[in-house]
Amino acid sequence: MRQAGRYLPEYRALRARADGFLEFCLTPELAVEASLQPIRRFGLDGAILFSDILVIPHALGLGVHFEDGQGPVVEPVRDAAAAGRLSTSALAHRLRPVWETVARLKAALPPEVALIGFAGAPWTVATYMVEGGSSRDFAAVRGWAYRDPVGFAQLIDLLVEATAIHLNRQVEAGAQVLQIFESWAGALPGEEFRRWGVEPVARLIAAVKTAHPGVPVILFPRGAGTTYADWAAESGADVIGLDCGVPLEWAARTLAGRCILQGNLDPVALVAGGAALDAAAERILDRLGSKPLVFNLGHGVLPHTPSEHVDRLVALVRRWRG
Ligand code: CP3
Repeated sequence: MRQAGRYLPEYRALRARADGFLEFCLTPELAVEASLQPIRRFGLDGAILFSDILVIPHALGLGVHFEDGQGPVVEPVRDAAAAGRLSTSALAHRLRPVWETVARLKAALPPEVALIGFAGAPWTVATYMVEGGSSRDFAAVRGWAYRDPVGFAQLIDLLVEATAIHLNRQVEAGAQVLQIFESWAGALPGEEFRRWGVEPVARLIAAVKTAHPGVPVILFPRGAGTTYADWAAESGADVIGLDCGVPLEWAARTLAGRCILQGNLDPVALVAGGAALDAAAERILDRLGSKPLVFNLGHGVLPHTPSEHVDRLVALVRRWRG
């Protein structure tokens, strides 16, 4: 997760060549290079497309930009009238550079490295669109969903439609696995997580599986807590990404055997390095490694992570695998 990023000096050099972060994501030459950097350096098993979940609001016609040190800023959509003005008419035109990046990446990667495409889940992308960026309490998006569920459903439905197109086109361009980031699953009210979280994701996965029955789908419902089992059982995902808060014994008992698991090393353990990193990684391999496991972090690599710690982790997992 965030295997490409600011902790790599070669990424920072490449990033300096684009005006803004969105332009960076939408320039195939740069995005291909950013995707390949961690593969060259660490020899990972999977390459994730370099892009962002916020290319979808951009493709629907909203202004999106990234302020340095402040995160994303999205032109806010606060009611059904504003949602009604969004359209998929320019979607293919605006997302074509991403699909082009996937095609070029597929051609550039060694055949044994799996190419992972991705998108944000409808609820998570909606949080950025309604809040106008990152949020602490998600009051605007949850408020709209309570006040006007019919209007909010229009926005969610549009996101399902747009995201299905985006994911299907990534598969057609060469993505072999898809990952759906429900990074704000934890912001869904307990009584609403099915309606705005699981159900739209299940529709999205069904749309992908109808077009491309064989493609494996990874779902990362970060912060889902006690509803992790429901996301696993009801979404149709093949793989469930665990965040760092999921206890390994619980995951082994409740989820392993029902779906493939991915995760969940604490990115802070990767920053810490040394014996603490080894112990945290070994615990995951020990508790989850007897069933199919995609070893990964439980959230994104932090910008101040020493890259030698990633070398150490990759070597440890490879030794374990034999
Ligand atoms: O290496 C990879 O994982 C592939 C690329 C990737 C990025 N974003 C690049 C990126 C992926 C898969 C994402 C997904 C993404 N984007 C998510 C879901 C995963 C998660 O983190 O929970 C979310 C919520 C976003 C939205 C987003 N993009 C935010 C909130 C930010 C700002 C945070 C920050 O660290 O500044 C981004 C920017 C972003 N996306 C960066 C990268 C490498 C850092 C910006 C930069 O390099 O200038």
